[in-house]
Amino acid sequence: MKNLISKSDSIFVAGHNGLAGSAICRALKKFGYKNIITVSRKEIDLRDQNKVKNWFKENSPDIVILAAAKVGGILANSIYPYDFIIENIQIQTNVVEAAYQNSVKRLLFLSSSCAYPKKCTQPIREEYLLSNYLEKTNENYALAKIVGMKFCEALRKQKNFDAFSLMPTNLYGPNDNYQDNESHVFAALIKKFVTAEINNLDQVICWGDGSPKREFLHVDDLAEASVFTLENFQFSLNNCSFLNVGTGKDISILDLAILIKNKVGFKGSIFWDKTKPNGTPLKRLDITRIKKLGWESKISLEEGIENTIKDFKKNIY
Ligand SMILES: NC(=O)c1ccc[n+]([C@@H]2O[C@H](COP(=O)([O-])OP(=O)(O)OC[C@H]3O[C@@H](n4cnc5c(N)ncnc54)[C@H](OP(=O)(O)O)[C@@H]3O)[C@@H](O)[C@H]2O)c1
Repeated sequence: MKNLISKSDSIFVAGHNGLAGSAICRALKKFGYKNIITVSRKEIDLRDQNKVKNWFKENSPDIVILAAAKVGGILANSIYPYDFIIENIQIQTNVVEAAYQNSVKRLLFLSSSCAYPKKCTQPIREEYLLSNYLEKTNENYALAKIVGMKFCEALRKQKNFDAFSLMPTNLYGPNDNYQDNESHVFAALIKKFVTAEINNLDQVICWGDGSPKREFLHVDDLAEASVFTLENFQFSLNNCSFLNVGTGKDISILDLAILIKNKVGFKGSIFWDKTKPNGTPLKRLDITRIKKLGWESKISLEEGIENTIKDFKKNIY
C-alpha cells in the first residue's frame, strides 16, 4: 500500500515535550522521518491565534500532529474546569484552522477516550461517541476534545481537508507528568510506590476503592499507531473520521496497584481512601477498526511498568 505521507514531508509535532509528543518524535525518527519541526511554548503559546497564524505562514509544514493540550487527572480537572475547556479549545482551534488555511496535507488530532460517555456498552466502539452523558469529573476536557474532533470532521466534509483524530486510551511511559495535582492514575501510582519503597514507608494511600477498570497503553505504542495511521488510514466520506487506539485489555486499579507495588518491591500495605472519587467504573476500547487496518499494540503491561519505573527512577526521582 502506498504511504499517505512521504519521508521528506516536514512534520510539525505540536506538544513535542509532552508524554505523547515526545514519543511521537521518537517514533517518527525511528521510521525515517527526518524533517520534524517543533516549537517551544516560550516561543509560541498555541493559545495565541495571531502567533499561531504567523508561525504557520512562515514555516508551512506539510503534516501536523497535534499533541499539545491541557491534560491532567481527576483532581486537576475538578479544580480547573475553566482552564481545561478554554485552553484546549483555543489550542486546537488555532492549530487546526491555521493548518487548513496553510494547505497542510494531513493533520492528526489527538483526542482521548475520555470523550466517550460515562455509561457505554463495553468495549467502547467509535460509534458510541455522543450516545450518552459524559463523566462529570472531566466533562469540560471531554467537551473540548469532542469539539476538536468535530472541527476536524467538519473541515473534512465541507472543505475536503485531510484531518482525522485518534482516541487513545489511558497512556503511560517515559516523560509522563508526575506533578501531584496534575498526574493521571498510572503516573501517580508509580510515584507513590517508588517514593514509599525508597523512604521505607509502611503504607501507600490510593484514591477510591480500586474497583474501576481501565485500559493502559504504553505511549511508544500510541506513537507507532500515530505514524501508522498517518501513513495508512484513508477514510472516505462514509467511514468514521477517527479511530480508537488501545490494547483491548483492561485491569482494575486495585490489580494495577498490586502489580506496580510488586514490580517496585514495596513491602508495606495499601490503604484505599474511599472518600476520593473513583471516576468512570469501566472503560475499555473496542480496537477492531485499527486492528483491521493492520495495527496492534506490542508492549505488555508488565514490560511497560518495568521500563516506566526505571525511567522514573533515572529521570524524575
Ligand atoms: N496522557 C494520557 O493518558 C492521554 C490519554 C488519551 C489522550 N491523550 C491526549 O494526548 C495528547 C497529549 O497528551 P500528553 O499526555 O502528552 O500531555 P502532556 O504530557 O501534558 O503534554 C502536553 C504538551 O502540550 C504542550 N502545551 C500545553 N499547552 C500549551 C500551549 N498553550 N502552548 C504550547 N504548548 C502547549 C505542553 O507544553 P509544555 O511542555 O511547555 O508544558 C506539552 O508539551 C492530548 O491531546 C491528550 O488529550 C492523553
